[in-house]
Amino acid sequence: MTTTVDARTSAAFDLGPARALSCRECGHQIPLAAEFACSECFGPLEVAYDFGPVRREDIEAGPKSIWRYRNLLPVPTDVQSHPNTEPGLTRLVKADRLAAALGVRSLWVKDDTGNPTHSFKDRVVAVALAAARQLGFKVLACPSTGNLANAVAAAAARAGWESVVLIPSSLEQAKILTTAVYDGALIAVEGNYDDVNRLATQLAAEHEDWAFVNVNVRPYYAEGSKTLAYEVAEQLGWRLPDQIVVPVASGSQLTKVDKGFRELGELGLVDATPYRVFGAQATGCSPVATAYKGGTDVVTPVRPDTIARSLAIGAPADGPYVLDTVRRTGGAVEDVTDEEVVEGIRLLARTEGIFAETAGGVTVATAKKLIETGQLDPDADTVLLITGDGLKTLDAVSDRIGPKAVVPPNAAAVTEALGL
Ligand SMILES: Cc1ncc(COP(=O)(O)O)c(C=O)c1O
Ligand SMILES: [Zn+2]
Repeated sequence: MTTTVDARTSAAFDLGPARALSCRECGHQIPLAAEFACSECFGPLEVAYDFGPVRREDIEAGPKSIWRYRNLLPVPTDVQSHPNTEPGLTRLVKADRLAAALGVRSLWVKDDTGNPTHSFKDRVVAVALAAARQLGFKVLACPSTGNLANAVAAAAARAGWESVVLIPSSLEQAKILTTAVYDGALIAVEGNYDDVNRLATQLAAEHEDWAFVNVNVRPYYAEGSKTLAYEVAEQLGWRLPDQIVVPVASGSQLTKVDKGFRELGELGLVDATPYRVFGAQATGCSPVATAYKGGTDVVTPVRPDTIARSLAIGAPADGPYVLDTVRRTGGAVEDVTDEEVVEGIRLLARTEGIFAETAGGVTVATAKKLIETGQLDPDADTVLLITGDGLKTLDAVSDRIGPKAVVPPNAAAVTEALGL
């Protein structure tokens, strides 16, 4: 349809403070559009802004969701009036018992299991949907390692859009069912995530009306992760933490958390104090940790083999930018075994009453390793991003935990089982 194409190449969209798309490699700028690669050098595009004055009071008076930061995101000024899933403003938990177990002084857990479909992906999808609507798309689509599938299918259902979701057929049953229930088009592909991603890029070129949130509208989608940084800073009383540990799959989230912290400093919303960003991977899919430890800028793709399937991206699009970010801020990228991932899940549950999925286990276990190896400062204010819910990855723990005993229905049997 000509009108759609015209609308997509126009600079007249209302995408709030967003002004252009800018190449992360060469800086070439183009008007806002549904583009994701630079026409000059094929580098990835990201959103460039012209922020007006932004005041803490206005944010604090805003909605109790990511839309309180709408003046810092590529979304229409009236975004709240659209039917979105309104994720965000999840709790920041002061994790004193986990801190004691890990041997650090002050620790917070950003608990993003509290989003509508129980992961941080609701943030990026809400921003992608708001932008996609402006850009003239009609269908919401994605390749996914699981959580994005949930978020896209649910957000599309709520907005009355069709969805097309592609997943590796080997995904956890819970993640398949919690996508299928929204009744969009869910396609399980016999291949790994990197195969699914390639397929999505092909399909995005063939179907002009499909907004693949993390492919052809990726520059807008990725900005949604900045809200994690904004919330952490606001919830700490408008200041930046000293250190933050972020799980890495494609690496997008980590780079945007850094971008969010930098913007807050530049806008004078916080003091621009130094902070260190750390990346967390599972050893069975740790291309970025390997490159970090090898002192190279080149991220060599791997074939994933880990229980942390939500992080199983063997060829991470933002890998090199993760390396830039951690090196610039004085952080690191570390990886942990599947055994340690399960221990991480159990440690967080036991100490803080928070049940995280495998990605959360990766974050907790990596934080433990970074502390033990002296890479994280035990005396500095530290935040761990817990990005997804354990109910979606029960398989990871099902053979390790269960009732202490199975007893007949009488009190004596219970006291005996308790060893009293
Ligand atoms: C729960 C969870 N945490 C973290 C990530 C990593 O996100 P990114 O691809 O932005 O690195 C994912 C990606 O799917 C995820 O599902
Ligand atoms: Zn370029």
